[in-house]
Amino acid sequence: MCGIVGYNGKNKAVNILLDGLEKLEYRGYDSAGIAIRDKEIEIFKAKGKLVNLKDKIADKELNGTCGIGHTRWATHGEPSENNAHPHSSNDGSITLVHNGIIENYHELIDKLKKHKYKFYSDTDTEVLTNLIDYYYKKYKMGPIDAINRTMVRTRGSYAIAVLFKDHPDEIWVARKDSPMIIGTNKDGTYLSSDVPAILKYTKKVYYIDNLEAACLKKDKVIFYNLNGDEIEKELKEIKWDISAAEKEGYEHFMIKEINEQPEVIKKTINNYIYKNKIDIYKSGITEEELKSFKQIYIVACGSAYHVGVCAQYVLEDLTRIPVRVEIASEFRYRRPILDKKGLVIIISQSGETADSLAALREAKSQGIKTLAIINVVGSSIAREADYVLYTLAGPEIAVATTKAFSTQLIVFYILAIEIARIKKKITERNYIELIEELENIPYKAKYILDNLTRGIQKIASKFSHTKDAFYIGRNLDYAISLEGSLKLKEVSYIHSEAYAAGELKHGTISLIEDNTLVIGIVTQEEVYEKTISNLVEVKSRGAYIIGIAAENIDVSKISDFALTIPKTNKYFYPSLSVIPLQLIAYYITIDRGLDVDKPRNLAKSVTVE
Ligand code: M6R
Repeated sequence: MCGIVGYNGKNKAVNILLDGLEKLEYRGYDSAGIAIRDKEIEIFKAKGKLVNLKDKIADKELNGTCGIGHTRWATHGEPSENNAHPHSSNDGSITLVHNGIIENYHELIDKLKKHKYKFYSDTDTEVLTNLIDYYYKKYKMGPIDAINRTMVRTRGSYAIAVLFKDHPDEIWVARKDSPMIIGTNKDGTYLSSDVPAILKYTKKVYYIDNLEAACLKKDKVIFYNLNGDEIEKELKEIKWDISAAEKEGYEHFMIKEINEQPEVIKKTINNYIYKNKIDIYKSGITEEELKSFKQIYIVACGSAYHVGVCAQYVLEDLTRIPVRVEIASEFRYRRPILDKKGLVIIISQSGETADSLAALREAKSQGIKTLAIINVVGSSIAREADYVLYTLAGPEIAVATTKAFSTQLIVFYILAIEIARIKKKITERNYIELIEELENIPYKAKYILDNLTRGIQKIASKFSHTKDAFYIGRNLDYAISLEGSLKLKEVSYIHSEAYAAGELKHGTISLIEDNTLVIGIVTQEEVYEKTISNLVEVKSRGAYIIGIAAENIDVSKISDFALTIPKTNKYFYPSLSVIPLQLIAYYITIDRGLDVDKPRNLAKSVTVE
């Protein structure tokens, strides 16, 4: 949540900052601001999307080659120009941008008020600017001392970039539990909350750890620990391609990312399967460990949680190990009793989701092994988990996840098949058959995109004014209904609910009336007749039915609009049925004229609890 950028080098900073903020807008878009240092530090802010800030500075001559920027997702204080970052200390000595939340800001404000500091915004950020200023002036020991003292006094999560008036040509940064990377090339040094913002300029980055700080000079970066000692950091190379963070002719990132699914699914499969053999052992986990787990806990948020729900069906059925799936924000606070011989799996695209990170720490504190399924290399969860299996989705820019979701599912299939093999729950022949069919998924996904998109686009306009939608299915079809429903509601703002088809008659069916949209997913042979009966029940109450079915199941008689997906192994259907669900959400939203990549109130990476 919130995106921060910075540049210090030979070139004009303004375009680099705006360019970076554009790439980070998916992290928040309530307001944006930049501070550029020429002779003086000049601050510009605007409420709303970045375009408003761009308009505001369009006629300004900004020649400074050092600056910081911010795009906001409001936590403390409404979205307004006054609450937008950068914030300055009372006398302008310190200028700062911040991503995260300061939990003890009331206590710190009280302390600073006693020292005559005044507060002009409703944010928790302003307290940081003044606290740094306070320590800087009180101890007169320079920026690193003031920043470290501030970190020690502050509770919460933060990634900050700071300009000190007395220290031209330097940007100071620090972080705890909020993401930040630092890049470098021959033209200068860069900082960002996320890779896409600096990918155009450099692939060489440093990862800064919790409670560490750094000084970005024009030609080098110096790192410090909490004692103020200089420390060494290794320069790492980002593998992502620049084009992956551009729209490349597509109208929106969401539709580009939907269309990238066959390719990234294939990449992810190829990363773990070679010549009909699964290899997940480069993560460090051993066969012996995998065999020993008596219980699996899957913990995640949002769509990643839905991957977990799918995975529960597949893992339990294939491996016969009991699996519990939990929403990360609930997991931590219910004081979970965990089986010491269990494995906790955290799923996260960003690797920075605060609740998922807290769940990981809870598991570790109980001495349970942790495995993370992560897309962003070097992210906090990836660094703290015992083992990591990466998804190879590349940068995902649209707030609504699509390709990351699909690659997470693939990693779970691979994990489940491998555990089943080790535990001898499947034969060698089943193992090979499952692998071979998994390798067909990219082609079947491509077939769906090529053949179903146009029909969905047409039907979507019929539903752009619908008020409610219900997604129903059984077994894995129910699991994927959860994702279809979230996809629709988060981008189109249409109320939608996912229900286990058999559960509808226990209350929710009373909401069905003439033309209520019901999307039925029917791929699981063992239960398909029962789901069809449930569809008949809603049909006879007036529902308009979109049926999404496997090619060997006929839903055309019961559906007003039927979509057929290719046949596959029962476990893998979610990878195929999710595609029409994503397309339905995308095209309905486009028809409603909404910003599908940046839905209101949302941010891509939820780094606050
Ligand atoms: O980065 P993460 O995978 O941890 O994010 C989890 C959720 O915030 C995320 O999946 C969210 O639900 C998306 N908006 C769904 O499209």
